[in-house]
Amino acid sequence: MKFLVLALCIAAASCDLVPLVDDQAILIRSSWDEVKHNEVDILYAIFKANPDIQARFPQFAGKDLDSIKTTGQFAVHAGRIVGVFSEISALQPDESGISAAKTLINALGASHRGRGISKAQFNEFRASLITYLSQNVSWGDNVAQAWEKGFNNVYFILFNALDGTPI
Ligand code: HEM
Repeated sequence: MKFLVLALCIAAASCDLVPLVDDQAILIRSSWDEVKHNEVDILYAIFKANPDIQARFPQFAGKDLDSIKTTGQFAVHAGRIVGVFSEISALQPDESGISAAKTLINALGASHRGRGISKAQFNEFRASLITYLSQNVSWGDNVAQAWEKGFNNVYFILFNALDGTPI
């Protein structure tokens, strides 16, 4: 992630990307590893805190959250959505990894732009994921700061794509 952020920062015309320091990249990956298989619980927590996000999913809109949580369809969606964070954190900090992350985040921005998802809803998603992490991994100021920086960088790329002006 550190190299990813640095390289993108150099390439970007105006740079809002903040490089992670070494141990921050490690903190993000190791804390994510503690919960990366809890996809269903994570999507459940996000929907529970934000009914407006659940309402945007045609398969789940208007349905009882506790009933859909145990369905295969919910597990498939959770795996896809939460899996994005596993994909990003698993990338190698080399040129191909940097390019892959940028491609992945830009595609995410473009697909959600097409669905009319707002930045405010992405920020709700982010806040709920951070709350989940803070309650389910070894948490502290250092881990919180690492996630803050990492999310800022991913969302910088994502929001440019959401605006239709990918970097
Ligand atoms: C960082 C946050 C998010 C991630 C990583 C994420 C990831 C994904 C992925 C991987 C897919 C399937 C592939 C695609 O269409 O791109 C997807 C689909 C979708 N996402 Fe997101 N998403 C996020 C935030 C949101 C938010 C905030 C909303 C709504 C408020 C949303 C609504 C949807 C919908 C409606 C679909 C289509 C589901 C379907 O019917 O198949 N996403 N998302």
